Amino acid sequence: MRIIYEPNEMQEIAKKYREWNKKIGFVPTMGYLHEGHLSLVRQAKQENDVVFVSIFVNPTQFAPNEDLDKYPRDIKRDEELLRKEGVDFLFYPTVDNMYPDGFQTYVNVEELTKVLEGASRPTHFKGVTTVVLKLFNITKPHRAYFGQKDAQQLIVIKRMVEDLNVDIDIVGMPIVREEDGLAMSSRNKYLNEKDRKEAVCLYQSLQKAKELIESGIDDTNTIKTEMKKTIESYKIPKIDYININSLTTLEELNKIKKNDTLISLAVFVGKTRLIDNLWI
Ligand code: PAF
Repeated sequence: MRIIYEPNEMQEIAKKYREWNKKIGFVPTMGYLHEGHLSLVRQAKQENDVVFVSIFVNPTQFAPNEDLDKYPRDIKRDEELLRKEGVDFLFYPTVDNMYPDGFQTYVNVEELTKVLEGASRPTHFKGVTTVVLKLFNITKPHRAYFGQKDAQQLIVIKRMVEDLNVDIDIVGMPIVREEDGLAMSSRNKYLNEKDRKEAVCLYQSLQKAKELIESGIDDTNTIKTEMKKTIESYKIPKIDYININSLTTLEELNKIKKNDTLISLAVFVGKTRLIDNLWI
């Protein structure tokens, strides 16, 4: 695996692979990799001739009060994991290389970013879409892989790609979970032993929603109330939001719509804010 630090060098390599008619698969990450990321890498390996992974903790998607400096990093371990998976190129740029002096161009997906995570973190998605489009321009992939754990991110990126005629297939991959159901996330590292036990409440509340839907209940208020009760049966967690939205427009739904429903929630477990979701 070669490690590339300079955007220009990465772009020249991507151009060469395009000239050679090789299919490029790309997995953008912020590092501190777990099985969720590796599932994206494995899918990319299966579907493409060459796989690029980026590790870049992107400052523009963190608000000043968020955990940019504390965001977990372990580049040596990440390198090792990616080598084992047979990744061809790791793109590992610096902040100055990605945002040189004078940088002033941003991408904003207007409506889809006003709700859910966007309501709690108003500047977040502008940073995500800007860096993702930059990474796409640098790595020139045919396919790019994203986890469904960040459901809104995936929906917003699909919108951006469609709106701006970006010729890349966006592949969404299922959430990878721990044995007790907790969705894998780099942020799980912040949980102490007590928090970790209670963090399962997110998955439990989604399971409750699934059971209710399977029993024929489609009223979203009833489902949200039951999810809330499930979380409140734990001691530590504090709900940020529980929402049920259309998967395409993200508008709130009164009734479950088959194949077009996203149930999502954000919960503070101790000081750690966790998210999870279910696609119906
Ligand atoms: O999902 C993430 O890790 C990040 O938001 C991404 C897509 C790598 C952009 O920084």
